[in-house]
Amino acid sequence: MEFESQKFISQAVSAIPRSGIRDFFDIVQGMKDVISLGVGEPDFVTPWHIREAAIYALERGRTGYTSNLGLLSLREAIATSVNKHFKAGYDPAREILIAVGVSEAMDLAFRALINPGDEVIYHEPCYVSYAPGIALAHGVPVAVSCRPEHAFSVTAAAIEKAVTPKSKALVLNFPTNPTGGTMERGELEKIAKLARRHNLVVITDEIYSELTFEGEHVSIAALPSMKERTVFLHGFSKAYAMTGFRIGYACGPAAIIDAMMRIHQYSMLCASIISQEAALEAIQHGEADTLEMREQYRGRRNLIVGAFNEMGLPCHLPRGSFYAFPCIQSTGLSSKDFARQLLEAEKVACVPGSAFGPTGEGYLRCCFATALDRIEVAVERMARFVKKVRS
Ligand SMILES: Cc1ncc(COP(=O)(O)O)c(C=O)c1O
Repeated sequence: MEFESQKFISQAVSAIPRSGIRDFFDIVQGMKDVISLGVGEPDFVTPWHIREAAIYALERGRTGYTSNLGLLSLREAIATSVNKHFKAGYDPAREILIAVGVSEAMDLAFRALINPGDEVIYHEPCYVSYAPGIALAHGVPVAVSCRPEHAFSVTAAAIEKAVTPKSKALVLNFPTNPTGGTMERGELEKIAKLARRHNLVVITDEIYSELTFEGEHVSIAALPSMKERTVFLHGFSKAYAMTGFRIGYACGPAAIIDAMMRIHQYSMLCASIISQEAALEAIQHGEADTLEMREQYRGRRNLIVGAFNEMGLPCHLPRGSFYAFPCIQSTGLSSKDFARQLLEAEKVACVPGSAFGPTGEGYLRCCFATALDRIEVAVERMARFVKKVRS
Protein backbone atom coordinates (compact mmCIF):
# COMPACT_ATOMS: atom_id res chain seq x y z
CA MET A 1 0.00 0.00 0.00
CA GLU A 2 1.29 3.46 -0.89
CA PHE A 3 2.34 5.57 2.10
CA GLU A 4 0.12 8.61 2.38
CA SER A 5 2.73 11.37 2.71
CA GLN A 6 0.04 13.86 1.71
CA LYS A 7 -1.31 13.77 5.27
CA PHE A 8 1.91 15.39 6.57
CA ILE A 9 1.26 18.57 4.55
CA SER A 10 0.03 21.52 6.60
CA GLN A 11 -3.57 22.65 6.20
CA ALA A 12 -2.44 26.09 5.03
CA VAL A 13 -0.37 24.63 2.19
CA SER A 14 -2.95 22.00 1.28
CA ALA A 15 -5.46 24.79 0.79
CA ILE A 16 -3.44 26.78 -1.78
CA PRO A 17 -3.75 25.93 -5.46
CA ARG A 18 -0.88 25.41 -7.88
CA SER A 19 -0.20 28.47 -10.03
CA GLY A 20 -2.41 28.42 -13.14
CA ILE A 21 0.53 29.77 -15.13
CA ARG A 22 2.92 26.98 -14.17
CA ASP A 23 0.34 24.26 -14.83
CA PHE A 24 -0.24 25.58 -18.30
CA PHE A 25 3.43 25.95 -19.08
CA ASP A 26 4.23 22.42 -18.08
CA ILE A 27 2.12 21.47 -21.13
CA VAL A 28 3.90 24.04 -23.34
CA GLN A 29 7.35 22.74 -22.31
CA GLY A 30 6.65 19.40 -23.94
CA MET A 31 5.64 20.92 -27.32
CA LYS A 32 7.76 22.01 -30.29
CA ASP A 33 7.61 25.28 -32.34
CA VAL A 34 5.33 27.07 -29.92
CA ILE A 35 5.27 30.88 -29.94
CA SER A 36 4.96 31.80 -26.30
CA LEU A 37 3.17 34.93 -25.19
CA GLY A 38 2.96 33.18 -21.87
CA VAL A 39 5.52 33.63 -19.13
CA GLY A 40 5.93 37.25 -18.00
CA GLU A 41 9.60 37.58 -18.69
CA PRO A 42 11.59 39.95 -20.93
CA ASP A 43 12.91 38.25 -24.07
CA PHE A 44 16.03 40.44 -23.77
CA VAL A 45 19.14 39.01 -22.18
CA THR A 46 20.41 41.10 -19.23
CA PRO A 47 22.47 44.01 -20.68
CA TRP A 48 26.13 43.06 -21.05
CA HIS A 49 27.58 45.62 -18.61
CA ILE A 50 25.32 44.18 -15.88
CA ARG A 51 26.35 40.61 -16.63
CA GLU A 52 29.96 41.81 -16.67
CA ALA A 53 29.53 43.27 -13.17
CA ALA A 54 28.42 39.82 -11.98
CA ILE A 55 31.42 38.19 -13.64
CA TYR A 56 33.75 40.82 -12.17
CA ALA A 57 32.27 40.21 -8.70
CA LEU A 58 33.23 36.54 -9.07
CA GLU A 59 36.70 37.47 -10.32
CA ARG A 60 37.24 39.64 -7.25
CA GLY A 61 36.22 36.75 -5.03
CA ARG A 62 32.99 38.44 -3.94
CA THR A 63 31.46 35.11 -2.98
CA GLY A 64 30.46 35.43 0.67
CA TYR A 65 27.42 36.47 2.69
CA THR A 66 26.47 40.13 2.92
CA SER A 67 24.74 41.93 5.78
CA ASN A 68 21.18 40.63 6.26
CA LEU A 69 19.88 43.95 4.90
CA GLY A 70 22.14 43.65 1.83
CA LEU A 71 25.20 45.59 0.63
CA LEU A 72 25.17 49.12 1.99
CA SER A 73 26.47 50.43 -1.37
CA LEU A 74 23.41 48.92 -3.10
CA ARG A 75 21.01 50.24 -0.47
CA GLU A 76 22.54 53.71 -0.91
CA ALA A 77 22.13 53.51 -4.69
CA ILE A 78 18.52 52.34 -4.26
CA ALA A 79 17.79 55.26 -1.92
CA THR A 80 19.15 57.69 -4.54
CA SER A 81 17.19 56.05 -7.36
CA VAL A 82 13.88 55.79 -5.46
CA ASN A 83 14.20 59.43 -4.42
CA LYS A 84 14.90 60.51 -8.01
CA HIS A 85 12.23 58.44 -9.75
CA PHE A 86 9.49 58.13 -7.13
CA LYS A 87 10.09 61.24 -4.96
CA ALA A 88 10.17 59.06 -1.84
CA GLY A 89 13.10 59.35 0.59
CA TYR A 90 14.43 56.33 2.54
CA ASP A 91 17.37 55.92 4.91
CA PRO A 92 19.66 53.23 3.44
CA ALA A 93 20.83 52.23 6.93
CA ARG A 94 17.42 51.39 8.39
CA GLU A 95 14.66 51.64 5.80
CA ILE A 96 15.79 49.42 2.90
CA LEU A 97 16.10 45.62 2.72
CA ILE A 98 17.51 43.70 -0.26
CA ALA A 99 15.52 40.52 -0.93
CA VAL A 100 15.43 37.59 -3.34
CA GLY A 101 13.13 39.31 -5.82
CA VAL A 102 9.88 41.13 -5.15
CA SER A 103 8.54 37.61 -4.57
CA GLU A 104 10.47 37.22 -1.32
CA ALA A 105 9.94 40.86 -0.32
CA MET A 106 6.18 40.43 -0.74
CA ASP A 107 6.18 37.25 1.34
CA LEU A 108 8.22 38.98 4.08
CA ALA A 109 5.79 41.91 4.11
CA PHE A 110 2.78 39.59 4.46
CA ARG A 111 4.40 37.58 7.23
CA ALA A 112 5.65 40.67 9.08
CA LEU A 113 2.30 42.46 9.01
CA ILE A 114 -0.55 39.95 9.08
CA ASN A 115 -2.08 38.45 12.22
CA PRO A 116 -4.32 35.37 11.83
CA GLY A 117 -7.70 36.46 10.50
CA ASP A 118 -6.59 39.92 9.31
CA GLU A 119 -8.20 40.84 6.01
CA VAL A 120 -5.95 41.99 3.19
CA ILE A 121 -7.56 43.81 0.28
CA TYR A 122 -6.06 43.57 -3.21
CA HIS A 123 -7.30 44.36 -6.68
CA GLU A 124 -8.11 41.61 -9.17
CA PRO A 125 -7.27 40.32 -11.81
CA CYS A 126 -3.85 40.27 -10.19
CA TYR A 127 -0.49 38.59 -9.96
CA VAL A 128 -0.90 34.94 -9.01
CA SER A 129 0.99 35.06 -5.72
CA TYR A 130 -1.02 37.64 -3.76
CA ALA A 131 -3.94 35.51 -2.53
CA PRO A 132 -1.80 32.42 -1.72
CA GLY A 133 0.84 34.64 -0.05
CA ILE A 134 -1.80 36.28 2.16
CA ALA A 135 -3.34 32.89 3.01
CA LEU A 136 0.06 31.39 3.87
CA ALA A 137 0.55 34.25 6.33
CA HIS A 138 -2.84 33.21 7.83
CA GLY A 139 -4.58 36.31 6.53
CA VAL A 140 -7.85 36.47 4.63
CA PRO A 141 -7.53 37.59 0.98
CA VAL A 142 -10.27 40.05 -0.08
CA ALA A 143 -10.42 40.78 -3.82
CA VAL A 144 -11.76 44.02 -5.32
CA SER A 145 -12.42 43.75 -9.02
CA CYS A 146 -10.95 46.08 -11.64
CA ARG A 147 -13.11 46.62 -14.69
CA PRO A 148 -12.23 47.32 -18.34
CA GLU A 149 -14.58 50.37 -18.20
CA HIS A 150 -12.01 51.92 -15.84
CA ALA A 151 -9.08 50.70 -17.97
CA PHE A 152 -8.41 48.19 -15.16
CA SER A 153 -7.50 50.81 -12.58
CA VAL A 154 -9.08 50.45 -9.15
CA THR A 155 -11.39 53.01 -7.59
CA ALA A 156 -11.30 54.23 -4.01
CA ALA A 157 -15.07 53.63 -3.90
CA ALA A 158 -14.63 49.93 -4.73
CA ILE A 159 -11.95 49.53 -2.06
CA GLU A 160 -14.11 51.38 0.49
CA LYS A 161 -16.88 48.81 -0.04
CA ALA A 162 -14.48 45.98 0.84
CA VAL A 163 -13.26 47.55 4.10
CA THR A 164 -14.44 45.89 7.34
CA PRO A 165 -13.26 46.22 10.96
CA LYS A 166 -10.90 43.30 10.20
CA SER A 167 -9.15 45.05 7.28
CA LYS A 168 -5.43 45.40 7.96
CA ALA A 169 -3.65 45.94 4.67
CA LEU A 170 -4.11 46.93 1.05
CA VAL A 171 -1.99 45.59 -1.81
CA LEU A 172 -1.55 47.73 -4.92
CA ASN A 173 0.22 46.85 -8.17
CA PHE A 174 0.33 49.50 -10.89
CA PRO A 175 1.06 49.03 -13.74
CA THR A 176 -0.77 45.77 -13.15
CA ASN A 177 0.07 42.22 -14.09
CA PRO A 178 -1.99 40.92 -16.00
CA THR A 179 -4.04 43.87 -17.28
CA GLY A 180 -1.53 46.70 -17.77
CA GLY A 181 -3.86 48.96 -15.76
CA THR A 182 -2.38 52.15 -14.29
CA MET A 183 -3.58 54.79 -11.83
CA GLU A 184 -4.15 58.54 -12.03
CA ARG A 185 -2.75 60.63 -9.21
CA GLY A 186 -6.22 61.92 -8.21
CA GLU A 187 -7.68 58.45 -7.58
CA LEU A 188 -4.52 57.35 -5.79
CA GLU A 189 -4.88 60.37 -3.48
CA LYS A 190 -8.40 59.21 -2.64
CA ILE A 191 -7.08 55.72 -1.87
CA ALA A 192 -4.35 57.21 0.33
CA LYS A 193 -6.97 59.17 2.25
CA LEU A 194 -9.04 56.01 2.68
CA ALA A 195 -5.98 54.07 3.92
CA ARG A 196 -5.32 56.75 6.54
CA ARG A 197 -8.98 56.90 7.58
CA HIS A 198 -9.21 53.12 8.07
CA ASN A 199 -5.66 52.79 9.40
CA LEU A 200 -4.58 50.38 6.64
CA VAL A 201 -0.98 49.54 5.87
CA VAL A 202 -0.31 49.64 2.11
CA ILE A 203 1.98 47.24 0.26
CA THR A 204 2.76 48.62 -3.18
CA ASP A 205 4.34 46.36 -5.81
CA GLU A 206 6.08 48.72 -8.23
CA ILE A 207 7.80 46.09 -10.37
CA TYR A 208 6.45 47.42 -13.70
CA SER A 209 6.75 51.14 -12.90
CA GLU A 210 9.59 51.78 -15.41
CA LEU A 211 7.41 50.18 -18.09
CA THR A 212 4.87 53.01 -18.05
CA PHE A 213 4.19 54.09 -21.63
CA GLU A 214 1.84 57.01 -21.12
CA GLY A 215 1.25 59.41 -18.28
CA GLU A 216 3.10 59.94 -15.05
CA HIS A 217 3.70 56.95 -12.76
CA VAL A 218 2.88 57.93 -9.19
CA SER A 219 3.63 55.72 -6.19
CA ILE A 220 1.30 55.91 -3.22
CA ALA A 221 4.45 55.87 -1.05
CA ALA A 222 5.23 59.40 -2.26
CA LEU A 223 1.87 60.91 -1.29
CA PRO A 224 1.70 63.04 1.89
CA SER A 225 1.65 61.08 5.19
CA MET A 226 1.83 57.74 3.36
CA LYS A 227 5.47 56.80 3.85
CA GLU A 228 4.87 55.76 7.48
CA ARG A 229 2.14 53.27 6.46
CA THR A 230 3.53 52.01 3.15
CA VAL A 231 5.87 49.18 2.19
CA PHE A 232 7.33 49.97 -1.23
CA LEU A 233 8.46 46.89 -3.16
CA HIS A 234 10.54 46.99 -6.28
CA GLY A 235 13.00 44.85 -8.16
CA PHE A 236 15.28 44.35 -11.11
CA SER A 237 13.55 41.48 -12.96
CA LYS A 238 11.45 43.44 -15.44
CA ALA A 239 13.12 46.86 -15.85
CA TYR A 240 16.61 45.43 -16.41
CA ALA A 241 15.70 41.97 -17.77
CA MET A 242 17.23 40.31 -14.70
CA THR A 243 14.64 37.68 -13.76
CA GLY A 244 17.26 34.97 -13.18
CA PHE A 245 19.32 37.12 -10.80
CA ARG A 246 16.46 36.95 -8.26
CA ILE A 247 16.95 40.36 -6.75
CA GLY A 248 14.52 42.95 -5.40
CA TYR A 249 14.04 45.23 -2.41
CA ALA A 250 11.64 46.67 0.13
CA CYS A 251 11.62 50.25 1.41
CA GLY A 252 9.51 51.30 4.37
CA PRO A 253 9.36 52.53 7.95
CA ALA A 254 12.34 51.25 10.00
CA ALA A 255 10.14 49.17 12.32
CA ILE A 256 8.53 47.28 9.41
CA ILE A 257 11.84 46.79 7.58
CA ASP A 258 13.36 45.49 10.81
CA ALA A 259 10.47 43.02 11.22
CA MET A 260 10.88 41.84 7.62
CA MET A 261 14.65 41.56 8.12
CA ARG A 262 14.14 39.28 11.14
CA ILE A 263 12.20 36.80 8.98
CA HIS A 264 14.66 37.18 6.10
CA GLN A 265 17.70 36.56 8.35
CA TYR A 266 16.32 33.22 9.54
CA SER A 267 14.93 32.06 6.19
CA MET A 268 17.21 33.49 3.49
CA LEU A 269 20.06 35.11 5.43
CA CYS A 270 20.82 37.45 2.51
CA ALA A 271 20.37 37.78 -1.24
CA SER A 272 23.21 36.48 -3.43
CA ILE A 273 26.17 38.89 -3.33
CA ILE A 274 26.80 38.31 -7.05
CA SER A 275 23.26 39.42 -7.87
CA GLN A 276 23.62 42.39 -5.52
CA GLU A 277 26.80 43.51 -7.34
CA ALA A 278 25.00 43.16 -10.68
CA ALA A 279 22.01 45.11 -9.33
CA LEU A 280 24.33 47.91 -8.22
CA GLU A 281 25.63 48.24 -11.79
CA ALA A 282 22.07 48.13 -13.14
CA ILE A 283 20.69 50.83 -10.89
CA GLN A 284 23.70 53.12 -11.37
CA HIS A 285 24.28 52.69 -15.11
CA GLY A 286 21.29 50.83 -16.59
CA GLU A 287 18.71 53.55 -17.14
CA ALA A 288 19.40 53.85 -20.89
CA ASP A 289 18.91 50.09 -21.30
CA THR A 290 15.54 50.25 -19.58
CA LEU A 291 14.39 53.14 -21.77
CA GLU A 292 15.54 51.32 -24.91
CA MET A 293 13.66 48.14 -23.91
CA ARG A 294 10.57 50.17 -23.03
CA GLU A 295 10.50 51.73 -26.50
CA GLN A 296 10.68 48.30 -28.07
CA TYR A 297 7.83 47.07 -25.85
CA ARG A 298 5.78 50.13 -26.89
CA GLY A 299 6.02 49.18 -30.60
CA ARG A 300 5.08 45.58 -29.81
CA ARG A 301 2.16 46.70 -27.64
CA ASN A 302 0.73 48.87 -30.39
CA LEU A 303 0.95 46.02 -32.88
CA ILE A 304 -0.60 43.33 -30.69
CA VAL A 305 -3.43 45.50 -29.32
CA GLY A 306 -4.30 46.70 -32.84
CA ALA A 307 -4.36 43.09 -34.08
CA PHE A 308 -6.65 41.90 -31.24
CA ASN A 309 -9.15 44.65 -31.87
CA GLU A 310 -9.07 43.93 -35.60
CA MET A 311 -9.82 40.23 -35.07
CA GLY A 312 -12.79 41.15 -32.88
CA LEU A 313 -11.23 40.51 -29.47
CA PRO A 314 -11.73 43.87 -27.71
CA CYS A 315 -8.51 44.91 -26.00
CA HIS A 316 -7.80 48.10 -24.08
CA LEU A 317 -4.45 49.80 -24.63
CA PRO A 318 -2.33 48.92 -21.57
CA ARG A 319 -0.59 52.08 -20.37
CA GLY A 320 2.07 50.04 -18.64
CA SER A 321 3.64 46.56 -18.13
CA PHE A 322 4.22 44.16 -21.03
CA TYR A 323 0.83 42.45 -21.01
CA ALA A 324 -2.19 42.76 -23.31
CA PHE A 325 -5.50 41.48 -21.89
CA PRO A 326 -7.97 40.89 -24.73
CA CYS A 327 -11.56 39.88 -24.03
CA ILE A 328 -12.43 36.53 -25.61
CA GLN A 329 -16.04 36.26 -24.37
CA SER A 330 -17.47 36.70 -27.90
CA THR A 331 -15.95 33.36 -28.94
CA GLY A 332 -18.16 31.52 -26.44
CA LEU A 333 -15.13 29.66 -25.04
CA SER A 334 -13.93 29.82 -21.44
CA SER A 335 -10.50 31.35 -21.10
CA LYS A 336 -8.99 27.95 -20.24
CA ASP A 337 -10.60 26.27 -23.26
CA PHE A 338 -9.56 29.14 -25.53
CA ALA A 339 -5.93 28.92 -24.36
CA ARG A 340 -5.83 25.12 -24.59
CA GLN A 341 -7.47 24.93 -28.03
CA LEU A 342 -5.34 27.79 -29.39
CA LEU A 343 -2.22 26.00 -28.22
CA GLU A 344 -3.30 22.72 -29.83
CA ALA A 345 -4.54 24.23 -33.09
CA GLU A 346 -2.02 27.02 -33.71
CA LYS A 347 0.84 26.52 -31.25
CA VAL A 348 0.49 29.90 -29.60
CA ALA A 349 0.72 29.92 -25.82
CA CYS A 350 -1.16 32.53 -23.78
CA VAL A 351 -2.31 32.39 -20.17
CA PRO A 352 -6.04 31.99 -19.41
CA GLY A 353 -7.30 35.10 -17.60
CA SER A 354 -8.83 32.88 -14.91
CA ALA A 355 -5.28 32.15 -13.66
CA PHE A 356 -5.35 35.70 -12.22
CA GLY A 357 -8.54 35.24 -10.22
CA PRO A 358 -12.22 34.67 -11.06
CA THR A 359 -12.56 38.21 -12.46
CA GLY A 360 -10.01 37.30 -15.13
CA GLU A 361 -12.43 34.79 -16.69
CA GLY A 362 -13.31 35.76 -20.26
CA TYR A 363 -9.85 37.23 -20.89
CA LEU A 364 -6.45 36.07 -22.02
CA ARG A 365 -3.07 37.37 -20.86
CA CYS A 366 -0.65 37.83 -23.74
CA CYS A 367 2.87 38.92 -22.85
CA PHE A 368 4.39 41.10 -25.59
CA ALA A 369 7.96 40.82 -24.27
CA THR A 370 8.53 38.72 -27.40
CA ALA A 371 10.27 39.73 -30.65
CA LEU A 372 8.11 41.77 -33.04
CA ASP A 373 8.32 39.24 -35.90
CA ARG A 374 7.21 36.45 -33.54
CA ILE A 375 4.26 38.56 -32.39
CA GLU A 376 3.32 39.16 -36.03
CA VAL A 377 3.15 35.41 -36.68
CA ALA A 378 1.35 34.77 -33.35
CA VAL A 379 -1.45 37.24 -34.11
CA GLU A 380 -1.89 35.82 -37.63
CA ARG A 381 -2.34 32.37 -36.11
CA MET A 382 -4.70 33.71 -33.46
CA ALA A 383 -6.84 35.50 -36.06
CA ARG A 384 -7.11 32.22 -38.01
CA PHE A 385 -8.12 30.38 -34.82
CA VAL A 386 -10.76 32.96 -33.87
CA LYS A 387 -12.23 32.83 -37.38
CA LYS A 388 -12.45 29.03 -37.21
CA VAL A 389 -14.08 29.10 -33.75
CA ARG A 390 -16.67 31.59 -34.97
CA SER A 391 -17.50 29.79 -38.23
C1 LIG B 1 3.28 41.94 -10.22
C2 LIG B 1 4.48 41.10 -9.98
N1 LIG B 1 5.08 41.18 -8.79
C3 LIG B 1 6.15 40.42 -8.51
C4 LIG B 1 6.69 39.54 -9.44
C5 LIG B 1 7.89 38.72 -9.08
O1 LIG B 1 9.04 39.48 -9.31
P1 LIG B 1 10.49 39.00 -8.91
O2 LIG B 1 11.11 38.39 -10.12
O3 LIG B 1 11.19 40.28 -8.51
O4 LIG B 1 10.39 38.06 -7.79
C6 LIG B 1 6.10 39.45 -10.71
C7 LIG B 1 6.61 38.51 -11.72
O5 LIG B 1 6.03 38.25 -12.75
C8 LIG B 1 4.97 40.25 -10.98
O6 LIG B 1 4.35 40.21 -12.18
